[in-house]
Amino acid sequence: MAYKTKFILNEKVVETDCPAGMLVLDYLRRQEYMTGTKEGCKEGDCGACTVLVGSLEGESVKYKPVTSCLLPLGEMEGKHLVTVEGLNLAELSPVQKAIVEEGGTQCGFCTPGIVVSMNGLLMDESKAVDLDGIKYALSGHLCRCTGYRSLKNAAALLSDRLEDCLSADDRLSSLVTAEALPQYFMEIPAMLREIAREPVNSGNGAGGSEAEYFIAGGTDLYVQVGEKIPDAQVRILNSLPGLKGISRVNGHYDVGALTTFEEFGDNPDMQEAIPGLGGFMFLIASWQVRNRATLSGNIINASPIGDMTAILLALESELVLREGDNERIVPLKDFYQGYKQMDRQKSEILTKIRIPVPASGAKINFEKVSKRTCLDIASVNSGMLLHLEDGVVGNFQFSLGGVAPIPFLLRETAQFLLGEPLTLEAARKAIEITQAEIAPIDDVRGKADYKRLLAKQLFIAHLTKLCPEKFKVRDFYEAY
Ligand SMILES: Cc1cc2nc3c(=O)[nH]c(=O)nc-3n(C[C@H](O)[C@H](O)[C@H](O)COP(=O)(O)OP(=O)(O)OC[C@H]3O[C@@H](n4cnc5c(N)ncnc54)[C@H](O)[C@@H]3O)c2cc1C
Ligand code: FES
Ligand code: FES
Repeated sequence: MAYKTKFILNEKVVETDCPAGMLVLDYLRRQEYMTGTKEGCKEGDCGACTVLVGSLEGESVKYKPVTSCLLPLGEMEGKHLVTVEGLNLAELSPVQKAIVEEGGTQCGFCTPGIVVSMNGLLMDESKAVDLDGIKYALSGHLCRCTGYRSLKNAAALLSDRLEDCLSADDRLSSLVTAEALPQYFMEIPAMLREIAREPVNSGNGAGGSEAEYFIAGGTDLYVQVGEKIPDAQVRILNSLPGLKGISRVNGHYDVGALTTFEEFGDNPDMQEAIPGLGGFMFLIASWQVRNRATLSGNIINASPIGDMTAILLALESELVLREGDNERIVPLKDFYQGYKQMDRQKSEILTKIRIPVPASGAKINFEKVSKRTCLDIASVNSGMLLHLEDGVVGNFQFSLGGVAPIPFLLRETAQFLLGEPLTLEAARKAIEITQAEIAPIDDVRGKADYKRLLAKQLFIAHLTKLCPEKFKVRDFYEAY
């Protein structure tokens, strides 16, 4: 008998035998005829298809905005799926009212997705509803008519009008009591407990080894081969146990391979190990995509410009790969063998990423140059880890993406700097060595010469941020 995915859609429990790899967007519009969720780009870029996905965490349900055009239906098992229709009240909701009053909608195509994300912001106790909060919430939305100023004004209105709810201990209940969210939200935790069942390891009835596609967040896979997935045997990796969570074990952090970018950025251990992490994450994708995109997907898609890969390389990460009972560990710096070629068998699953705890005093930075701040992939990106002992370089890791067929650590640059006092002269020489180590090509992200220039500029940006007392940007240009 076909496996049925069981979840809550707005206020009702549904069970469906539609394929596990079918997009939630297609399910909503074509099976449920719920057309409030819009289909725009179908590539995660516009946000028109945004929905909220709620999961039980302890006694309460945490909601995250995600793009339903990259979301497999099989992921909904045991979850609460909220569409724009599920946020409707008898009258306009406070979010809708604020958008109308501030003139935040014209053609209206982007508006349902924006309403969903703004509600997601209100419901997320870890986020303030201020200018930074609304930038975060809008980072995954494109509006071609109205622009964003009026939406920022709408958020300011909401912040005033819902002040008491937003400062309450339990924001969600408080929003329901204030009639800013429908009453049925209060029933959802109990309903989710009732439908909870053992996770199944596969979709479409496929055993693991038969699966044609392993889906982690799906944010890369659906863009590449989305039309093939609904008819294929898929394995929803999130249904496998033990691939999530971050813990400290002896001298390293064990990071579950399916940790999403948002989970990584929000984790207190990671924030302590990588000061500035929150700022780095804002440069990567959008809130919705970061809620789905996983570290393992970033590593295994082997893009030369994977942002998390650039950070993880600089952190000297190792990969734990498993096939059946066999497990092996590969340093990330040795994993890539050529464009999209890796030291990995097709059936091996990346289970964990091991990050050595950075030495006390080690400094870490991430830089990215892209055409837009949010929702854009890098022309060139880079991570740097620098540990100085009495002014002498004790550890130095410098990763670059976008300047070769693979993302990589610049070994010769590191070898030169190790044990050297970090002077302006040494830094200048290191830049020359870096230039000899890279081999950029012309592509849609820029000409080879431009990428060479970026590699130099990013090196300088790292050093001036990590050692502001030692280096100023102008020193470098006077030195040249
Ligand atoms: C709109 C948009 C914006 C984006 N912006 C950025 C950006 O700014 N920076 C950036 O780096 N990337 C960006 N991406 C790309 C993408 O989100 C990331 O590369 C992400 O990390 C992919 O992870 P995923 O979990 O979604 O991977 P998936 O799509 O699920 O998988 C990617 C590949 O990895 C394989 N895989 C995943 N996990 C495992 C595992 N544990 N074991 C074995 N194989 C596995 C899958 O089978 C698949 O082949 C963007 C994507 C979109 C759609
Ligand atoms: S349709 Fe554009 S992000 Fe989903
Ligand atoms: S109102 Fe038309 S795209 Fe935003």
